[in-house]
Amino acid sequence: MAEQRLRLAVQKSGRLSEGAFDLLSKCGLSISRAKDNLYGRARELPLDILLVRDDDIPSLVADGVCDLGIVGENVFEEYSLEKDTPYTDEFIVSKLGFARCKLMLAAPKSEPADDPSFYQGKRIATSYPELTKAYLDRQGVECSIADMSGSVEIAPKLKIADAICDIVSTGATLEAHGLKPTHTVFTSEAILIKRPGELDADKKAAFDSLMVRIDGVIASRDAKYVMLNAPRDALDKIVDLLPGAEAPTILELAGRPDTVAVHAVCAEQVFWSTLEKLRSVGARSILVVPIEKMMP
Ligand code: PRP
Ligand code: ZN
Repeated sequence: MAEQRLRLAVQKSGRLSEGAFDLLSKCGLSISRAKDNLYGRARELPLDILLVRDDDIPSLVADGVCDLGIVGENVFEEYSLEKDTPYTDEFIVSKLGFARCKLMLAAPKSEPADDPSFYQGKRIATSYPELTKAYLDRQGVECSIADMSGSVEIAPKLKIADAICDIVSTGATLEAHGLKPTHTVFTSEAILIKRPGELDADKKAAFDSLMVRIDGVIASRDAKYVMLNAPRDALDKIVDLLPGAEAPTILELAGRPDTVAVHAVCAEQVFWSTLEKLRSVGARSILVVPIEKMMP
């Protein structure tokens, strides 16, 4: 029997799509895309990519048409609420750390909308009716929903609605339409989801291999290798300042017994401000080197 290939649903174009292809490329996978741009194929693993609308990804995976999907948590949560299936961890394999955004209520700039009670009795345009209703219910606010599939931000100007609830990333879209974000309804990032049920042996092997790579990419994303020289008596302070570093290597410098070299893997981002603090407690010759791959 021919080898079974794992099927992954990815957004055809947009922010999520860019992040997903970037992740696959960092996993060492080269994806050749078919001319119709509906389908891609990885060379290094038995993995096929279906290019679809992000809104279709939860149902493609829940119904087993695809084994895996990369989708925004917002889209997945809306789907779960709509289908009345609890938002279970069973589907979610991993948070992927990109395409971070917020679903937010937004009102025309001139309106006093600081308190959620502003939305009482108002009409709110959104592509996320379930998440919006659930949030306002929790706030004890009743309103009506205008369910729109896109271009939600123009609804107030067209008098279709008084306010909106939409995805905010940079905030540029709201700004351009004279709207201001007031309340966060849901915080989201890209997630990897997997269909319920067992994968057969070929697919399971491909999935395990993909997961080792994805976990490695996530672990090394912010990680840096930091090297510096420090006075031996400042060592405690310096180690405390290194973000997310476990057990640094300490080496004595030749002919300078009062100075040591410190080498550490920092699991979290190393900012300029961190380097300034390190310097202020005596660190010198600080080098921050990117880490390409990491495996525990
Ligand atoms: C969202 C939202 C806005 C835009 C906001 O769309 O509907 O159009 O992003 O981004 P900004 O704050 O950076 O201006 P999304 O990318 O989720 O696309 P989709 O709804 O078509 O899937
Ligand atoms: Zn969409």
